[in-house]
Amino acid sequence: MNFRTIIEPFRIKSVEAIKFTRREDREAALRQAGHNVFLLRAEDVLIDLLTDSGTGAMSAAQWGALMQGDESYAGSRSFYRFDAVVRDLTGFKHIIPTHQGRAAERILFHTILHPGQIVPNNNHFDTTRANIEVEGAEALDLVIPEGRVPSLVHPFKGNVDLRALERLLAEDADRVPLVMVTVTNNSGGGQPVSLENLRAVRAICNRYGKPLFLDACRFAENAYFIKLREPGQESRTPKAIAQEMFSLVDGCTMSAKKDGLSNIGGFLAMNDDGWAAEARNLLILTEGFPTYGGLAGYDLEAVAQGLIEVVEESYLRYRIRSTGYLGDKLSAAGVPIIQPSGGHAIYIDARALLPHIPPLQYPGLALVNALYVEAGIRSVEIGTLMFGRHPDGTETPAAMDLVRLAIPRRVYTQSHIDYVAEAVIAVAAMKDGLRGYRIVSAPPALRHFTARFETA
Ligand SMILES: Cc1ncc(COP(=O)(O)O)c(C=O)c1O
Repeated sequence: MNFRTIIEPFRIKSVEAIKFTRREDREAALRQAGHNVFLLRAEDVLIDLLTDSGTGAMSAAQWGALMQGDESYAGSRSFYRFDAVVRDLTGFKHIIPTHQGRAAERILFHTILHPGQIVPNNNHFDTTRANIEVEGAEALDLVIPEGRVPSLVHPFKGNVDLRALERLLAEDADRVPLVMVTVTNNSGGGQPVSLENLRAVRAICNRYGKPLFLDACRFAENAYFIKLREPGQESRTPKAIAQEMFSLVDGCTMSAKKDGLSNIGGFLAMNDDGWAAEARNLLILTEGFPTYGGLAGYDLEAVAQGLIEVVEESYLRYRIRSTGYLGDKLSAAGVPIIQPSGGHAIYIDARALLPHIPPLQYPGLALVNALYVEAGIRSVEIGTLMFGRHPDGTETPAAMDLVRLAIPRRVYTQSHIDYVAEAVIAVAAMKDGLRGYRIVSAPPALRHFTARFETA
């Protein structure tokens, strides 16, 4: 018999209590945090959907692998296990461990970028953009037009706009040292990129002699979407699809805190010998020796095991379906979300929900803060606050004002998610009473992490 219910493909053998707080406690905590949920104490949060990064539950096999960690400074057994697993998956010649994704980005971009250059991507994530801009280069978003319309349904909204990429390279190839594609496209709603699109980007890069890199944080979720949605891919394993994705590119940056199913870790991988040698030198300067890259031996073990588990079909079926379950509930209640549901998160269209709050008063922040005060749920603004400020200090509305509910991997059960849906629907019903914010203090870059606010 074929049952329709998709269950969590694991049993729980260790639990962590969560703290229930009162509304007035949360109001006080948020005030003290300058109305910025990044500055809250995590224990004052009931359901933490701030990020899916590093917040997952490790498996018994990963905890077991931790005990196998070889903490030798150089040439540890754990590095060679990590190296073998990453190599089997990606096929790249040089595998350089880093403590997380942004360290891989920092090393890659500092190695290859010069001021005035341009790095195209479907959508750069905030750390990617910041690590490009800090080198004086431009981070250019070239997602397909459908990827910028939240309500529009398209199977691969993370695809690169091929004509725009071709035009950029035809006009300005000298300024483009490499092309990137982010899978899945986090800033664009956790939306996948098709194999067909990736192959076409590869062909364009070949024509102009440009290297192509993946921001591979959620490669497994992307591979499973390809299996579900791309004609001809349905009978392949997620791992085989992922291997083809990696075979189409020359390297990748990776945060193992996502599809490495680990609490810390990442890597930079590539085929180019010259770039890899320079990257390793920089790694030694800031991260550590090339066989540990800022990680403990036990971290390398956990990542290696996580990368094996993340491509298992039972895991990915549950992962993609359980995120979609929340999206379906919110859509059915009329809450505007990016359609279709993303792989790791649901993105509420705060600009559509709160049209009375102008983008420069951060409608996403208003919704994030209301969700915390009313229900103890922590989410994150992905919009004008995160992307609206430019290197020259000016501020304009971002393309979208979103609130991301990111689902940690293997952490929350269906009843937690039922609670989240009920709470979001209740807060959406209070929308007319929500107010915007203005900034009291903010740093020049990545301001959303530490800025403080007051109501406008
Ligand atoms: C698409 C994407 N790229 C890069 C990163 C940076 O990874 P890390 O947080 O491990 O530095 C993230 C993290 O959220 C991400 O989502």
